[in-house]
Amino acid sequence: MKNVAVFASGTGSNFQAIIDAVEQGTLQANLVLLVCDKPGAKAIERANSHNIDTFVFTPKQYESKSAFETEIVSELQKRDVDYIALAGYMRLIGPTLLQSYEGKIINIHPSLLPAFPGKDAIGQAFQAGVEKTGVTIHYVDEGMDTGPAIAQGDVVLEENETMETLTKKIQKIEHELYPKTLQKIIEQ
Ligand code: GRF
Repeated sequence: MKNVAVFASGTGSNFQAIIDAVEQGTLQANLVLLVCDKPGAKAIERANSHNIDTFVFTPKQYESKSAFETEIVSELQKRDVDYIALAGYMRLIGPTLLQSYEGKIINIHPSLLPAFPGKDAIGQAFQAGVEKTGVTIHYVDEGMDTGPAIAQGDVVLEENETMETLTKKIQKIEHELYPKTLQKIIEQ
């Protein structure tokens, strides 16, 4: 089985969906590490309650991105990580990680990329008054939400849609699509 590390900065509801899929056997992988750049994030509690190792760090305590990424790479290599799944990791991946895990880093983004990259993608789409938005799972490159798409899921906006209802719909798609897509990638 492949070894997967998840990177998260916040709540980790997508991380939880991945944990659940692994426990149910629909995602056949070993979840070997959570990498988190925010001490105190809820994602860390989720890892702890499922006995998943964590590497939690404070970026400001390092002199550069490459300094903390070098440490992350060593934590990943220690555990023979095959794939990295970004799940709300709010940082651009730098050359140190990209070179070590080329083609093995996957991200989920809450819009139909290339539309609405960057922060608050759900809010951006809602404000723009689009008829349709959704979720994209893509390979990670050096840009912000720019790598090649792997899978997308659509969400159609209803007449009485609010940010709250739209967010819920997007999250539902995310939690189904991410584990399913990871399984397909791992199987290849
Ligand atoms: C998700 O919307 C994901 O698409 C984006 O960040 C959010 C993370 O949410 N990259 P959560 O922490 O998984 O709940």
